[in-house]
Amino acid sequence: MTRSALAVARPNIALIKYWGKRDRDRNLPATGSLSLTLSGMSTRTRVTFRDDLPQDHLVLDGQLASPEAHARVIRVLDQVRRLSGITTPAEVFSDNDFPTAAGLASSASGMAALAVAASRAAGLDLDLGTLAGLARMGSGSAPRSLLGGLVWLPRGEDPEGLDCVPHCLHPPEEVPWGLVMAWTGRGPKAVGSTDGMEHTRLSSPYYDAWLDQSRRDLEQALIHARALDLAALGPLMEANAMAMHACALAARPPLRYWNGTTLAVMDQVLVLRRSGLRGWMTIDAGPHVKVLCPREDAETWAEALARVPGVLEVRPEVPGPGVEAAP
Ligand code: PMV
Repeated sequence: MTRSALAVARPNIALIKYWGKRDRDRNLPATGSLSLTLSGMSTRTRVTFRDDLPQDHLVLDGQLASPEAHARVIRVLDQVRRLSGITTPAEVFSDNDFPTAAGLASSASGMAALAVAASRAAGLDLDLGTLAGLARMGSGSAPRSLLGGLVWLPRGEDPEGLDCVPHCLHPPEEVPWGLVMAWTGRGPKAVGSTDGMEHTRLSSPYYDAWLDQSRRDLEQALIHARALDLAALGPLMEANAMAMHACALAARPPLRYWNGTTLAVMDQVLVLRRSGLRGWMTIDAGPHVKVLCPREDAETWAEALARVPGVLEVRPEVPGPGVEAAP
């Protein structure tokens, strides 16, 4: 017996960050988040359940999966097997059309595509909440990549995470913004987000203050996002990212994701903004800087950031769709 399905998903960038877990086993977030799904990059994942395989076989970007990636994928596959009653091993082929090693958050698109491909290959037609739970087993930010455009993922209160389900605030075609990504380093990040969040929770004196501030930021951000008010959302987004990094920097030992080029780009963003260009920055658990701006200014931002010494590549992005399934 062979059952196969393909899914395509895109990365998303958090405008209000998820940083911290309220339940590590269920991978539930301690903070709600707000994100923009992108359009120009994608992960294609094919899952095939085959009873002639001795065990699960995972190939990510043409290579056997690392032990860490392997464990995440197996968590999702095992849950699909529990839900469907299938007991056979699966073959997973997943490819990113963007450099995974460049440190961009590829786990979100990868795990969203995996959740959809695996559940469909198993013959399941899952609702959004169940799919979100599946994607979350692989990565906390992955449920957001199930949907397109501007997406809100509530923290939720339910111990099982039943209310931690993404909502689309505006589909991509309604969001008149661009997001310019400036790559400032190669290679995977030194400390992955799960370890980084746990280290921050356990040792940063500012962790509780971060949770508190993040709740207030999200409340305001949802109002601005619904109104598509970039002038109000931008500064809030930037402050929220700085608060996340401040909390991580205060961990013991400190967690610093930035490099010298990160700071140079940050300086340049301030210079350009002072000159009248509208755009605000955010940074995830890595050294790259992303600027949210009006769509018509994205090229100008991209050209200016590409000139900063040390920047490896710049990519202007526009909002993109949610996960797409194919037979
Ligand atoms: O989903 P994870 O485990 O890769 O964590 C994502 C963490 C951040 O990218 C820093 C923030 C976010 O909300 O995407």
